[in-house]
Formats: sequence, C-alpha cells, structure tokens
Amino acid sequence: MRKTHHLPAIHKTFLTIGSMLAVVSLSAQTVTIPIETGSNVIVLQTDSESRLRTVYFGEPLTNESDYSAISSLTRLDDDNIGVHNAAYTPAGTWNLVEPAIQVKHSDGNASLELKYVTHKRERIDDNTSLTSIQLRDPKYPFNVTLFYKVWKKENVIEQWTEIKHTEKKPVLLEKYASADLYFSNKDFYLTTYQGQWAKEMQPTETKLERGMRSIETKLGARAMLLQSPNFILSFGQPASENDGLVMLGQLAWSGNFKMEFEVDPYENLRFISGINPYASEYSLVPNQTFKTASLIYAVSNNGTGEASRNLHSWARKYRVLDGEGERLTLLNNWEATYFDFDEDKITSLFKDARNLGVDLFLLDDGWFANKYPRNDDKTGLGDWQENVKKLPHGIGHLVQEAAKEGIKFGIWIEPEMVSPKSELYENHLDWVIRQPDRPEVYYRNQLVLDLSNPEVQDFVYGVVDGLFTKNPNLAFIKWDCNAVIYNAYSAYLDKKGLPQSHLYVEYVHGLYKVLERIRAKYPKVPMMLCSGGGGRGDYELLKYFTEFWPSDDTDPLERIFMQWDYSYFFPAIAVDNHVTDWGKQPLKFRTDVASMGKLGFDIVAGELNEKDMQFAKEAVANYHGFKDMMWHGDQYRLMNPHDNDMASIMYVKPDKTRAIIFNYLVNYRQRLQTSVEPIKLNGLDPSKKYQVKEINLYPGARSWLNPEKVYSGDFLMKVGFNPLVNLNRTSVVLEVNEVR
Ligand code: DGJ
Repeated sequence: MRKTHHLPAIHKTFLTIGSMLAVVSLSAQTVTIPIETGSNVIVLQTDSESRLRTVYFGEPLTNESDYSAISSLTRLDDDNIGVHNAAYTPAGTWNLVEPAIQVKHSDGNASLELKYVTHKRERIDDNTSLTSIQLRDPKYPFNVTLFYKVWKKENVIEQWTEIKHTEKKPVLLEKYASADLYFSNKDFYLTTYQGQWAKEMQPTETKLERGMRSIETKLGARAMLLQSPNFILSFGQPASENDGLVMLGQLAWSGNFKMEFEVDPYENLRFISGINPYASEYSLVPNQTFKTASLIYAVSNNGTGEASRNLHSWARKYRVLDGEGERLTLLNNWEATYFDFDEDKITSLFKDARNLGVDLFLLDDGWFANKYPRNDDKTGLGDWQENVKKLPHGIGHLVQEAAKEGIKFGIWIEPEMVSPKSELYENHLDWVIRQPDRPEVYYRNQLVLDLSNPEVQDFVYGVVDGLFTKNPNLAFIKWDCNAVIYNAYSAYLDKKGLPQSHLYVEYVHGLYKVLERIRAKYPKVPMMLCSGGGGRGDYELLKYFTEFWPSDDTDPLERIFMQWDYSYFFPAIAVDNHVTDWGKQPLKFRTDVASMGKLGFDIVAGELNEKDMQFAKEAVANYHGFKDMMWHGDQYRLMNPHDNDMASIMYVKPDKTRAIIFNYLVNYRQRLQTSVEPIKLNGLDPSKKYQVKEINLYPGARSWLNPEKVYSGDFLMKVGFNPLVNLNRTSVVLEVNEVR
C-alpha cells in the first residue's frame, strides 16, 4: 500500500496531533509535497532557497519517494524572467512574470518574497484530506497559507489561500489569487464559455498559444452574465469524452473573477485564478485573515465524461445543499401570466399543477409593493409586502389554497435589488449602490443594494425570514438577481472610512453572510438560484441553494446544447429546466428536454388540448418514476450535438440495473433519414441482460422499437442501440431495464 506521506526523513520532524500529521521543516533542505487524488498528483517542492515550486502534474508514481527526484531533471530558471513554476508567485522581488500575489506593505514597500515554512496534512475522513502549506516573507511578518482539499475517490481538488500579517498597519492586497498552477504536459486546449441573456454557456475551445489568455468578469453582481467561470483544460489533444488527461472546474466566486492562462517561453502553462483584482485592492488589517475564493476542479486521465461524473458525485455528496436529497417538480406562472395576475387567477392555476401531477406551485415576480405596485419591471423592488389589490388575502391564503389542492407553494424574490420607484429607495437611499454625484444607470430598470452594509444584510435576511415567519409552510424560494453593478460606490464604506475598492469583494462576502444566517435557521428549504437566467451558478452559492436556473432561454432545441454544456460541471439534480412556449417544437419534445434535470412547467396548462394534457400528465408520472436515477445516478454523454445531427444523453442507476436515455434530432437543415447507426451506450454492466423500452410516447403514437428484445450490456456498449430518431420522431426517450 502507498504510504500516506513521505519526506526526506533526516531533515524533518513528524508530529502527530490527533488525526493530523504535522511536518516541520528544520532546514532549507528539499521538501516534497505531493497533492494526490486517486488518479493524479500535483507535486510541489522547495528549491535551494526554500521557494515552493510545482514540479509535476500527472499520474501518481508507484514509489512516493521518487517524487523528490523529479525537479533535478528540469531546468526552468532563467535570469531574465524569474521562476515560472512557483506554487504561488509573488511580485516585486525576483519574479517578473504574472504574479499570483501583489501587495504593498504597511510601510509602502511593494516587494514580496515567499518562502516555505511548514506544511501539514489533515485527514478529514477516509476520502478527504486537507494539505496546508505556510509560506512567509523573510523580511516582513506576512504569511500566506496555501490550501489543497482533496477528495481522493472523486479526483476533485479545491484550492484556496489565506493571507495574514502582523505588520504595524494595514497591508494593501493588490492581487490575491486562489491558485497558481503549472503544467509542463504540452499542448493545452482550453474550453471557456461566454454568454448573454438567454444565450448562456456558449463554448469555445482553443489551442493555447504562447502568451496570455485571460477570462474575467467585472459586472459585480449577475457576474456570470457574459463570461462563465467554468473551464475545461485538456492536455495533448482537444477535450474528448472518453480519453485523455483533462481538468475541468470553476472559480467558485459569485462576483468578479479572473482566470489567466499563460503559455510561457518554455511552452508550459501557467494558470492563475482568483477574485478579479480590478478595482478591488483590499486593505488587510493586522491579524485579520483574508480567505480567497476557491478554485475547484476534477482531474481525469479518461476524458471529460469521467471528470464530469466525478465532479457531479462530489457536488452531490459534498457541496450542493441537500445534493443527495429530493427535489420538487413545479408549475411556475412567470411566462403564463407575467405581471398580470390576481388571487383568483393564481389559485385557478393550482388546479393545473395538481392535474399535471407536479409537487409545487411557484409564484413569480409581481406579487408585491403597494405605493409603487410591481405591475411591470420598473417599480416596487424592495417593497416586499403583498400587493393588496392583487393578493387581498396575502400569501398565507395562497399557501393554504395550494395545500387544499395537495400541492406546495413557493415564491419568487429578488432581495438584493431596488427599483428607483420604491419606498425602499425613498427611505434608504444610502443603502443603494450609486455614485452620489452622477446620474444613475439602470440595468433592467433597477439598482443593486449595498450588501457590504450590515444593515442591508439584515434587511435582505429579513425579507426571507419574514416570509417564512409569516408563512411557515412556504416550501420553496426562487432567488433572482437581475442587475449588474454600475456606478460602484458604497455610502457605507465611505462612512466607515473603508476604501471603496472593498465594495466588489464585500458585496459577495455580505451575500454569503446573509445566506449563512438563512441556512442556520432554515437548513433545508429548497431554494433556486436564478440570475435573470444563468448570471449566477457557482459552487460557493450552491452551498446554500439546492438548484439553479441556467437560462431564460427555454427553446428546447437551444436548450439541448445549453444543458449539454452545463452538464460538464453540474449534476442533473442541481439544474432546473422548464417546459415553456419558447421554440417551435411540440410539447413532447419540450417536455423530454426539460426532463433532463429538475422538471418544471411554465405554461398555461389549462389551455393544453386534451391529448397534450394527457401526454404531459403521463410524462410527469414517468418522470417521477425515473428521476431518482437521473438525480442520483451517473451521466454519460453519448452523442454531442455540437458535432452531430443528434444529441444523446444517458443516466444510469449506480447499481446498473436501470438507465434512461434521451435522444434528439438537432439538425433540421438537411432532411435526416432515420438515425442510421446505433449509438454506443455506456455505464451498463456488460454481463447483465437488458430490455430497451421507449417511454414518453405521445398519445396514439406507436413505438418503432421492440421492447421485448433482450440485449447484453456488452452488446449495448460495444455495438450500441439505434433509437430510430428522424423527422417524425425528433425526440425519443428510452428506458433500459435489467432482465433477470
Ligand atoms: C428573470 C428570471 O430569469 C425569470 O425566470 C423571471 O423570474 C423574471 N426574472 C422575473 O422578473
């Protein structure tokens, strides 16, 4: 068995404190620190001057002692440009390349050197360990601790940094990255995702050439609107589903982030990521710890499919709120009514929810504000009292009426925002992010509240707490965030004598504080994270949310691509998809697509014709039958819509007795004949026997497939199965069941 840790023994003292293995460096001798997952390792090592470098990234070596020999084989020093593979590159001394950290000490000096002091590895459980490495400036009492949390089985690493000093006065942090990685495996392919409203997650894969490529956002709130923090790095070849070394993940920060990918003169890759330093210098007082955002990634030697499955398992088990639990299917009224509703209209929709067979009714925007009623998107945000004209008997009445129909009730809020036409704006102008001496600039006719201000945090917490206190049976919250931050200026920071450059960071910290309080009191109530579509959706916020809304674009054809691209990073249980009237596809197609994740409806169900209603009810019933394996099972992307006329995605129950496969026609330009070749399935047991049955058939439609035929798992994975998709069968859902 592999030893848990090894260092050149004579230079180290091992201290065992409980489950913690502490290693104290006694001299400037080489220290080797492997950060090992089940399948890969990052090896860090000190050089002759005690600077910590990255010396290896790849498959683990059989003998851990061999790691210490790696660095002697490589020569990366260069008199002109410093050391490229530093594990956390400081600015202002020997390094002249892009730094991970840049500071101005309390005396105004801008130089930083970081030398290895000590490290330790804590065992958290059988699968999880935390390695922390302390670095220190030899001239200033300035410390940086690098953290690597490793989930061995899932091959997932979370990296962050903590910065602390005991200088006499504050130190200005000008750049403070989460991670500084170095790869010498040549030929790097990077996939990143840009977006706009209703066009989120548009992928681009490029081969990285020498020089810098940076991916960033400066929007403050709704920060992912134009640029997603998710990435795929593939080594040696473009990212491929079932082979090759890949790393995929995200910078988990719900505000401005920056990821820098630099191919250096050695044609190696430097990857520095963290909170965007743009307008965000942070004045750190003595003894205060600044914790950076986390970089989270899964590594695989077998392509993106395995990396995603591992990241999904990790997310469900360790990250997403109630990730291994259940979710509520729902009927939402946003696209059915927009702002135009009253109590009678809403209660009449409860019957539709019951008829469909979903669990919950979700009341969207427009239910609140009286002085400036929320009848469109120009007024009322911030005034979170029921509009007495629309809802004379309040939310409590709606919760009760829903219960009479046997369904739960949930509600939409956007508590971080304010309309310029609102009582909140009139009474608390100092709570609003705005430049006092400039014209206001609006995004969706609204402004952002200053969450760096504890009073605003109390207010936002109070919106949620007030709703639950008055309506204890409220079962779901949709938390929206539709505006970016223009005119970034905080009256609170000004009053407190704190720098304005704290605003972007403290906004996000304020948001996390509010969510911490909410979850302390309401640990499990499901909450959907929404941001005018997919402007938010990161693994820091998903500690508090059970799911997120990836886009307002619910055109099912577009959505196939979008859900495909999100699926690299998020498990189906965390992604909400609704059946709406977007797109030209029939209800069956729309429902099948929305069923790949957490299903909801946002249509006037009462207006469906008889056959559509019958189909929808059967599809919801089917969904309740297979949702478990999709929410908690393993996902296999079988056919990529970006490269083919079809898309095919499969979810397999962990014991491999059942699976569900969604197949779609995505290219209508040339008349596609019936899908000509079988699609190779994946994740089944080769020795098991299976039958494949088509489900979600539209009333009166006949399946073209023989549900009685028995196939071996071996056959289905090597030869495959043809769902017979064509222009008459544009969406085919297959259920695979073991035959005993
Ligand atoms: C944006 C969201 O993405 C929509 O689903 C809807 O909730 C509207 N906001 C309401 O204003």
